[in-house]
Amino acid sequence: MQIPSIRMSGIETVDDRCAMIAEALRLHDPETIAHGLRVCSVVSSLSRAMNLDDTTRRILAKASALHDVGKLAFGTDFIHAPWSYTPEERIRMQSHASVGSQLLDIADPDEFREIALIVFQHHERWDGTGYPRAIRGEGIHRLARLVSIADVFDALTSKRAYRQPWPEERIRAHFLENRARQFEPDLVDLFLESYAECASARESTTGV
Ligand SMILES: [Fe+2]
Repeated sequence: MQIPSIRMSGIETVDDRCAMIAEALRLHDPETIAHGLRVCSVVSSLSRAMNLDDTTRRILAKASALHDVGKLAFGTDFIHAPWSYTPEERIRMQSHASVGSQLLDIADPDEFREIALIVFQHHERWDGTGYPRAIRGEGIHRLARLVSIADVFDALTSKRAYRQPWPEERIRAHFLENRARQFEPDLVDLFLESYAECASARESTTGV
């Protein structure tokens, strides 16, 4: 049976396995796949500014769209809980990085190896205080460092049950404050230089 592909932010048509995984996530939790597609559009904008080659951009598109696929392991009440997580709940939620990585590794151990690694590392931080492994700096896959920036950008730009979207000035200040702490410094500079393009790419994906 042919599984229909989905269009991802006008970047490319994803392959069947990615489409199937993305569709499973969409059926389970439309908000999480919508977030993934917005992150995908932002990293696509950054990858153009970085002149990344086509193969790298294809890997990046898949990894960014599916970076939170491990949340399939949780109910939507828990994913979008309007309360602050307890320490135990936070640890449980943090497992989505490794769960997602395992899922993609099973999908195709060869082609998906790099995608699975990016998904595994998308919550690592430049200063080594992230998870799941607390690795630091260039020890983190460079595309995971890129997804991390787009992930936080989309989160801060999105409305939450407990807060309004942050304005541009506050978001810029947040990235400058976390430059060389949470995020790779050179990528923060690139992101801030490309802010208008990133915001526009994200906006064009809203409602996907
Ligand atoms: Fe995540």
